[in-house]
Amino acid sequence: MNKKKIIFSGIQPSGELHIGHYIGAIEQWIKLQNENNCIFSIVDYHAITVNHDPELLKKRSLEICKLYIAMGIDPEKSIIFKQSDISAHTELSWIFNCKGCYMSDLKKMTQFKDKAGDKQELVSVGLFNYPVLMAADILLYDTDIVPVGEDQKQHVELTRDIAKRFNHQFGQTFKVPEVMVKKEGARVMSLSDPYKKMSKSEANKNSYIALLDAPDVARKKIKKAVSDSGSGIYYLPDEKPAISNLLSIYAFLGNREIKRLEKDYKDVGYGDFKNDLADIVIKFLEKFQDKYSQISDSQAEEILEKGKEKAKAIAEKKLEEVKRVIGVK
Ligand code: AMP
Ligand code: TRP
Repeated sequence: MNKKKIIFSGIQPSGELHIGHYIGAIEQWIKLQNENNCIFSIVDYHAITVNHDPELLKKRSLEICKLYIAMGIDPEKSIIFKQSDISAHTELSWIFNCKGCYMSDLKKMTQFKDKAGDKQELVSVGLFNYPVLMAADILLYDTDIVPVGEDQKQHVELTRDIAKRFNHQFGQTFKVPEVMVKKEGARVMSLSDPYKKMSKSEANKNSYIALLDAPDVARKKIKKAVSDSGSGIYYLPDEKPAISNLLSIYAFLGNREIKRLEKDYKDVGYGDFKNDLADIVIKFLEKFQDKYSQISDSQAEEILEKGKEKAKAIAEKKLEEVKRVIGVK
């Protein structure tokens, strides 16, 4: 029998979760939890690397916890916890800031370059070394697999390097984790600009379908989604990036083959195609929004409290070991 693997992943409470989070990450988490030991975090210390509103941060953390549960993460099977509840994360992150990670590593991170843009000298130091905290999140739990969307692959690769370098210098301490990125759906694109990733930090809310969007809002957003010039519903990401993205979303949420959709929509215009896509998206949203509304804040708080106790025991044991090997204990 295969030994159960340890799975770790997380989402920042920095905006509204959207269908890209489900398609790229959460859908595989739900499947993985049946055969493995899964730990899913709400990484609130990552969310303060940019400007944030304290009240909203608290609200969003609970919102994500409720969404995890409503979508099918079972708190009896998986650990759900808030990163800031366990100080071992920030402690280990400091140790990695000193051991295992170099300035040159962080300067290569494409997400930092994207987020900082031409203001690299003006953004917070936290935004720069945020992958170090992410490495601490992952390595504290002897994680085997990190299921994430495409954009996080580079951060997990850096995590692997940090683990290897630390082990090399101080002896075997950390398991070197594998990244798990889906073949399809690992990068859902924006509805208003198909060359950009669908993102919760985008000011234009029409660029994403939030998991908590009301049905009529979702339909309007799909109707407004940019299409490509010309006509025809074909999956040609280079020539028709907008329609290809919509086709991918349709195929994923509607559980249909893209080839089949191309056939079915051969002589259909963009308007009718979008209407059908809206039906599929709304059906998907309704499946968990009902359940979401039945979970109270205090239930979510209780789940996070229980998750904290379970995760803390694991994290603190690992941190103790690290402290011993580096000579502070
Ligand atoms: P974040 O919003 O950056 O905290 O992302 C949380 C998780 O969702 C990560 O694993 C991301 O890679 C994944 N994710 C976020 N946006 C997308 C997207 N547009 N397509 C696919 N995966 C995504
Ligand atoms: N940086 C990740 C993101 O923005 C979130 C994250 C933080 C994470 N720690 C993690 C993901 C550990 C996987 C594992 O999406």
